Amino acid sequence: MEVDLIVKSASELHTMQASRDSGEPKTGEEMKDTGRILGGALAVKDGVITAVGETADIMDKYDAETVVDAAQKTVIPGFVDPHTHLVFAGSREDELVMKIEGKTYMEILEEGGGIQRTVERTREASKAELDIFSRERLDNMLRYGTTTAEVKSGYGLDLENEVKMLEVMQRLNEDHPVDLVPTYLGAHSLSPEFDDSSNYIDYCREKVLPEVAERELAEYCDIFCEEGVFEAEESRKLLEEAQELGMEAKVHADEIENIGCSTMAGEIGAVSAEHLVTTSEEDIKKMIDSGTIGVLLPGTPFMLMEDEYSPARKMMDMGLPVAIATDLNPNCWTESMQMIITLACLQMKMIPSEALNAATYNAARAVGRTDIGSLEEGKRADFLILDVPTHQHIPYHFGVNLVEEVYKDGEWVVDNRTR
Ligand code: NIG
Ligand code: FE
Repeated sequence: MEVDLIVKSASELHTMQASRDSGEPKTGEEMKDTGRILGGALAVKDGVITAVGETADIMDKYDAETVVDAAQKTVIPGFVDPHTHLVFAGSREDELVMKIEGKTYMEILEEGGGIQRTVERTREASKAELDIFSRERLDNMLRYGTTTAEVKSGYGLDLENEVKMLEVMQRLNEDHPVDLVPTYLGAHSLSPEFDDSSNYIDYCREKVLPEVAERELAEYCDIFCEEGVFEAEESRKLLEEAQELGMEAKVHADEIENIGCSTMAGEIGAVSAEHLVTTSEEDIKKMIDSGTIGVLLPGTPFMLMEDEYSPARKMMDMGLPVAIATDLNPNCWTESMQMIITLACLQMKMIPSEALNAATYNAARAVGRTDIGSLEEGKRADFLILDVPTHQHIPYHFGVNLVEEVYKDGEWVVDNRTR
């Protein structure tokens, strides 16, 4: 049979295929299974995977004008980054110096820095400027192997500027190869026009959410549920309203203090609870019961120079499905899911196969997608050729880009080879 493209002879091809294809994220022991094929090959037609298997079998059954030799290379699905704040203006490198000198994230925020500063810059920026800043980062993400990313608003904090951010995402989604999943995070911080968080939540519910829903600008609604920002009960109120309007819920939970946010995420059936550093066993049980996915962001404690990371081992051992993400934002500025895999392995003691599932298969489920995140017949042909012979090199050979080629929907969109 004639197909458009064959990739053959990969030293390792990781399909990530689950033993039971229920559409559910992987848990426990399943997270160690990457569906590895030694000497693997795949065939692609019309942007979709036609077949995956051993090279001899694929070459027997399929012909293509373009045959790519992946000898000595590793083939994996494109990374799915399920938590980013891609759209913002300005930068905060001076705050890193303050942190090195001992200031905490919340101290900087209370002094008018942090999110507040990025809100000022983002409000000043035009849509065209935000498009340029964000596009540059998105290009970087693609070069580093991310083919789908969730993006949160939250640096506008009023109707006009939140909509502006969501419109920038819409435009990028239309004409950039990376697929974006938009999230309304209006309750990222108290808006400067309000002095009371519950009044601001009411404003988000009454003035912003209906417009976001009506214009279908976001699939998800998220909130920064944290001591000194938004409490669990007011968060619940906003998220339940969003669910009624047809959006699904995500929650920034247990990043600094545990004030019941991941339990609340479980109770309302949120698709994901994200950060989860100070999460207890009780919280983990609640999330397991409701099918909530834990999205872990080890780049953030790393950039805050904290000792405590998400209890990923305990979560996986208890049966919580976990995904990992960059959290790309001015406090944790990385476009690299490879860096996040390194941190997940070294700081959270995930093994490379678990981290790979968390960055692809489970990350796709955390943004509600089942047609990406694995290389199986009928799935979209989003995949990477890495210039390493095994997947264990991904966390091990760190701080450089191991991605040699990126294919999105079967199209060759990145060539990082210099020779
Ligand atoms: O997920 N913690 C809250 N929100 C972002 C950081 C945003 C910022 O500092 O600009 C996060 O880490
Ligand atoms: Fe975040």
